[in-house]
Amino acid sequence: MSLDSRRWSDAVCIPIGTMGTRDYSTRWFGLLPVKPNCLFTQLAKDTGMTAQTPHPPLNHIPQDILSAHDYEALALHFLPATHFAYIAGGSHEERCLRANREAFARYAILPRLLRDVTHGHTRTTVGNTTLLHPIMLAPVAFQRLAHSHAEAATAQAAEATDSTYIASTLSSVSLETIATHTGNNRWFQLYFQTEREATAQLVHRAEQASYQALVVTLDAAIQMPSLRALRAGFQMPSEISPANLANIVPAAESPVAAGQSRIFQGYMRHAPTWADLEWLLSVTRLPIWVKGVLHPQDAQALQALGIAGLVVSNHGGRALDEAPASLLALPAIRAAVGADYPVLFDSGIRSGSDIFKALALGANAVLIGRLAIYALAVAGALGVAHMIKLLHEELELTMAMAGCAQVSEINAACLTSSTQPVENISLPLI
Ligand SMILES: Cc1cc2nc3c(=O)[nH]c(=O)nc-3n(C[C@H](O)[C@H](O)[C@H](O)COP(=O)(O)O)c2cc1C
Repeated sequence: MSLDSRRWSDAVCIPIGTMGTRDYSTRWFGLLPVKPNCLFTQLAKDTGMTAQTPHPPLNHIPQDILSAHDYEALALHFLPATHFAYIAGGSHEERCLRANREAFARYAILPRLLRDVTHGHTRTTVGNTTLLHPIMLAPVAFQRLAHSHAEAATAQAAEATDSTYIASTLSSVSLETIATHTGNNRWFQLYFQTEREATAQLVHRAEQASYQALVVTLDAAIQMPSLRALRAGFQMPSEISPANLANIVPAAESPVAAGQSRIFQGYMRHAPTWADLEWLLSVTRLPIWVKGVLHPQDAQALQALGIAGLVVSNHGGRALDEAPASLLALPAIRAAVGADYPVLFDSGIRSGSDIFKALALGANAVLIGRLAIYALAVAGALGVAHMIKLLHEELELTMAMAGCAQVSEINAACLTSSTQPVENISLPLI
């Protein structure tokens, strides 16, 4: 599939299907257009449509979508119930998943008046790279669950919207194929394999395919199972597998001896340690980022080791269920590593104002996980591009209304508590 990115960018500028300029501005200024034959309503009415027979993906932008978050509700109708449970679910009882969303609600944005933002833009710098906007696509495994074009479609959408695409080790399409669908903004997310040789092989392939950075995920050597996915009866379909690992033979499992723990001496036997990270730094010329950082002391140690930057993340609530909301961990990490060290953020972002809050609390840019997969399920590459465009416009709208013309003007002083009187709060807040 080839895609003219200019054409796509233009296409997704119009957020709602065939709406013209007048409707478009009407939408942003608060008078929502009336939508006869709304797809949500149609899906609800259609008695033949059950969760077991999901709606086939659209090849146009759905008219009902008024915000990026709308893709979540619509995706319910485009995915089998089991797949939706797997994608939407968090680990165990989903405390962390809920905490991620609740954390955003704890902050309000304190708008400033009369500021000239006509020179405004969302350009920002992450490491040595200038981005047109601070929205990146998080590594998400097995995207074929959501759409037959899988990661190829998400990568196309990233290119069309000038977004950095981070390809998961566990992609259902090979990293080489993904590379043919993205522009230059492509990073590779690395999971350590049980054998160093296999890890080095993946790194070498990413280098060969001109990925610009490695993002090593360290918070999920094992995962707490998602009770939601288990109860829904989710099983990975046999035709979906991690394409990057097709030629990698996993180390033979040695059984756990009597009296040993299935967790410590079993699953954690191959989990990476600091020594593995040092080894990784020695075998590649690519900048290495670490994803899954929540503790300020880990952040400092990683910075001292020569890690290029951090992703403050709790895996979207899919790792330790009692971990704090990523947003609540962010200010301490920014304070620990200083103002100039690159810090990305993810977990729980569903709108442009969420992005604004993450930037205000210290992130240089954010990663979007589930929203992209929901949009992929609804309308493939077009849906993902549209969702990113909506998020971008929601961010611009929030910035303009808050009185921030540039990302560098977004800081903790732009926020206040959503539950306390403004005069009673001291920053930074939680
Ligand atoms: C279905 C699914 C699969 C994921 N697979 C990976 C993965 O392969 N590697 C990784 O580092 N993170 C993975 N993540 C975590 C995301 O990169 C990201 O941290 C998280 O989705 C952000 O939260 P959000 O979904 O609320 O935006 C996955 C998340 C989901 C929902």
